Amino acid sequence: MDDRTGDAEVLATPLLLPCGVVLKNRLVKAAMSDSLGDGAGRPTEQQIELYRRWTSGGAAVSIIGEVQVDHRAPEKPGNLVLGPRADDELLRRLADAGSTDGAHIWPQLGHAGALAHRPISRLAGPSALDIDGLQCDELALSEVEALPTAYARAAAHARAVGFGGVEIHAGHGFLLSQFLSPLFNHRSDRYGGSIDGRSRLLLDIVCEVRATIGPDAAIAVKINSSDQLDGGLSEDDALAAIGLLDREAVDLIDISGGTYFPGAPSSSDRRTSGPYFLDFARRARAVTDTPLMVTGGFKTRAEAADAVRSGAVDIVGLARTMVLEPELPSTWLRLDAVDPRFPGFESPPPGGITAWFTMRLTAIADGTDGAFDLTLDQAIEAYETRDAERIEVWKRAFETRSPPPDVA
Ligand SMILES: Cc1cc2nc3c(=O)[nH]c(=O)nc-3n(C[C@H](O)[C@H](O)[C@H](O)COP(=O)(O)O)c2cc1C
Repeated sequence: MDDRTGDAEVLATPLLLPCGVVLKNRLVKAAMSDSLGDGAGRPTEQQIELYRRWTSGGAAVSIIGEVQVDHRAPEKPGNLVLGPRADDELLRRLADAGSTDGAHIWPQLGHAGALAHRPISRLAGPSALDIDGLQCDELALSEVEALPTAYARAAAHARAVGFGGVEIHAGHGFLLSQFLSPLFNHRSDRYGGSIDGRSRLLLDIVCEVRATIGPDAAIAVKINSSDQLDGGLSEDDALAAIGLLDREAVDLIDISGGTYFPGAPSSSDRRTSGPYFLDFARRARAVTDTPLMVTGGFKTRAEAADAVRSGAVDIVGLARTMVLEPELPSTWLRLDAVDPRFPGFESPPPGGITAWFTMRLTAIADGTDGAFDLTLDQAIEAYETRDAERIEVWKRAFETRSPPPDVA
């Protein structure tokens, strides 16, 4: 068997998750905040079309990035929100678009906490902070205690409209990642202190989500291998958190790293070659029996197949490659696979690469990706202009005199 046959076969092998769900191959469209919500937390036709493209492109699962459990702390004004103001008919159509031909589509349940989009959020995290580029309040104990129910309610909503599972976002510096991180989390109650305390909120959320959605729906958790930040979550603590998660009914641990903390490196802007976090995944194998996924840096079929074949991971997450080539899984499962060509960016500003990829995925949604030719500067401007317009829509949609009904 030559390498090409072997690579295609390895990646085409189905994966049985502990909950009984079978993923049809080893390639996942990783979570990306697509910024294609309507500004009021609801799906758009564009977004439905985007997921139709990715699903017909052969991904075993497409994960919708940053679907908020609380409209008061979104990552961006183009996020979806699972709550009482949602449009269930559109959500159902989005779930249907991602569920053809044995594929799955899962919302990534998010809450941006201290890194929420400032113009439309109350910035609050595990502890009050006032440092360069970041000021936030501390969440009261009663607010922290209400979070497992908020996540469970959002997960139940997702199941009710047809999604086969959820990913709980505990990476990249957003709320649950803030709780894991000693840099953000200085609490002296049971949600702070050692890694056992800092993991408690995540574990409580997983437990309540599982109890609410039942044993046969998939639950993934995205977690950092480290924050790559002085004083942030270390690899040893991340391994300890993964060991604790092993006791919960989790189906897939999605390993990532980096954060959107001001000035810190993010995975989506990173430019080093070769897959990231594989050495960490090998260490994680020793502390968990839960299936592992690594997201970050995969650019070729050989890299993806080697990662699975070596036993380091069970399944591979692909973000930017799926934006360059939405049909990539189908292509890689054929013998004559062609790997996508990555654009070279000279001295991109922080966040610039992520903005460029977000505008390119908008072109996929519009069916104009063949003609996409925005420069980095043009993409950043288009991205920021669209967000600025959506801020006003968001404010109007969620303005209310009564307390928000979707979070206790
Ligand atoms: C446009 C864009 C948006 C992203 N949004 C999210 C997100 O909402 N949630 C998340 O966990 N990761 C997000 N990421 C990070 C990716 O999931 C992934 O971890 C990172 O891009 C590295 O993988 P890659 O090398 O395959 O791109 C985003 C990445 C990009 C490029």
